[in-house]
Amino acid sequence: MLENNKWRLKFHLMPPEGWLNDPNGLCQFRGEYHVFFQHTPGNPEGGDKYWGHYTSSDLIHWNYAGDKLAPVDDVDINGVYSGSALIWNDKMYLYYTGNVKEKSKDPTIPFVRRSNTVLVSSEDGIHFGEKQCLMTREDYPADISGDVRDPKVMTGGEIGIEDGAFYMLLGARSQADVGEAMLYRSENLTDWELASRITTAEKFGYMWECPDAFMKEGLKFLSVSPQGVEREGLNYQNIYQSGYFPLAGSFDGDYTLGDFQEWDKGFDFYAPQTFQDEKGRRILIGWIGMPDAPQHKNPTVELGWQHALTVPREITYINGRLYQNPVAEMETLRGKKNELSMGKTSKPMEAFDMEVQVEKNADLQLILSDGLTISYDRERKIFSLRFEEDKNMGQGRIERSAYVEQLDHVRLLVDTSCLELYLNHGETVFTTRFYTQDARNYIQLKKGVEKAEYWEMTSFVVDKNISL
Ligand code: FRU
Repeated sequence: MLENNKWRLKFHLMPPEGWLNDPNGLCQFRGEYHVFFQHTPGNPEGGDKYWGHYTSSDLIHWNYAGDKLAPVDDVDINGVYSGSALIWNDKMYLYYTGNVKEKSKDPTIPFVRRSNTVLVSSEDGIHFGEKQCLMTREDYPADISGDVRDPKVMTGGEIGIEDGAFYMLLGARSQADVGEAMLYRSENLTDWELASRITTAEKFGYMWECPDAFMKEGLKFLSVSPQGVEREGLNYQNIYQSGYFPLAGSFDGDYTLGDFQEWDKGFDFYAPQTFQDEKGRRILIGWIGMPDAPQHKNPTVELGWQHALTVPREITYINGRLYQNPVAEMETLRGKKNELSMGKTSKPMEAFDMEVQVEKNADLQLILSDGLTISYDRERKIFSLRFEEDKNMGQGRIERSAYVEQLDHVRLLVDTSCLELYLNHGETVFTTRFYTQDARNYIQLKKGVEKAEYWEMTSFVVDKNISL
């Protein structure tokens, strides 16, 4: 675990060192939360992917349990790619994509991907058994390309199919370059058959990564991370997206996908996954990062690590939309409450949680650490994050905006070099990395604040007790 290292975060999970991307295998098993993640040990710029492993009983005290799945077998020699966990009959089942790049017979193609769907199971959530390859390239439909990955496994009941079977979503790219999610069905967790293929009426990107599905208030939702969607006004400002479609009908029969809603409007958010915990909450964790966006730099690379995961966010459904809010446990990290009045600047802190009540009929303007302007233009109904280019706090990040019909409340989770912003109690969310010289932050209330309260935040407690 890197220590005394600038820009390390206090209440976000990070790689112990090296590179992190997608959250994987999220679940709660016998009371214990498990957060696995794509990890490249020893290389902050990425490389072969392992599954790193954190556990926690309360989402605040964490143990780093080491790299659990390593790309050392024929089924996954080029990477233990993303996947999910299913808890069934007091056992943990992990499904993932074994990335294998096979030599191509065609000299114009560098390699052919096999994209194996692999299962490993565990009696205790700590030690894992043999890898079992369940499906490989030839098992997927003939019109699908080599890009098939990220199995998300759930019970039929979780997605409104009451047949006692299990279902697996796989993200895919067709030979015709259209993104889709394939749904497989199984009665025994190992034999899988294609049940349906889900995509939009009109092409929405060439590849869908990290599919997920769940229900809220009796309604069905399909979450995906599409690639190849063009920017449209304030929508799809990043190179790749992640969001959800409401699904009418059934996942395994006739269906219609509603309008796609982005989960997060910031610079750094991708490949989220959800799970239901033992309290019945639907919790989402995303990757604070963005692939293939080299113009947005992370100077932590020089310090041996890169990227982090969002705080766990509880999902609720209100008026046609899914809302996301930090799980209530995060409030236990708050120190004593302070108030800050309009026009004032807070003391410098590494990490704080702030709630702002916005003045009616006014524009809002907050400035973080003198380099990031957070504002709402009431007339245009646009909320924006804008980095001052000459201060270099954004490291290449400039502006992200969202249309917000009415703004009443803003919550800022500021953690050293990471900001999560929750508008109107989770209606719209922005996540971004930023880098100040001394890794300390302060906030100025410039315009439109009726009331602001903040709490300095203490850290997650992270132990390292590696069990292999
Ligand atoms: C998404 C993703 C997944 C893949 C993994 C590899 O960020 O590309 O589709 O399984 O990362 O690390």
